[in-house]
Amino acid sequence: MKILVLHGPNLNLLGGREPSVYGSATLDQINGMLSGLAAELGAEVTCRQSNHEGELIDLLHGAADMDAVVFNPGAYTHTSLALRDAIAAIGIPTIEVHLSNIYARENFRSKSVIAPVASGQISGLGVNGYLLALRAAVALARA
Ligand code: DQA
Repeated sequence: MKILVLHGPNLNLLGGREPSVYGSATLDQINGMLSGLAAELGAEVTCRQSNHEGELIDLLHGAADMDAVVFNPGAYTHTSLALRDAIAAIGIPTIEVHLSNIYARENFRSKSVIAPVASGQISGLGVNGYLLALRAAVALARA
């Protein structure tokens, strides 16, 4: 069971980036927690981060041997039809995750172009949202 965890733009700054919004955990700490949980669930995670839309698309295209994807597209959530199309194209169950509650912030964040092609979305639960998304991804891949 292989799960790809993809982190989009600016998420490499987690820990120092607006901690009141995104929490104090660094990306390495989040990836470490995901690897630990994956081991418990009998799964293997590959974690990648990119600030570039095209690179995220390439990583999705390269996920053909993955059973599911956990994806925080960052601000591309609200704008990127290209990422949306990539998720639709690969046809692998994809869980969209946001640390913050995108529906309780600026209006422009309340629209996700990714959500219609995602298997589901978790928003506003901080780091725990990633862990819940991993559990959901493993369950979907096993279903
Ligand atoms: C985010 C929410 C987005 O609106 C924002 O642009 C991010 C992070 C989140 O995890 O809460 O970069 O995806």
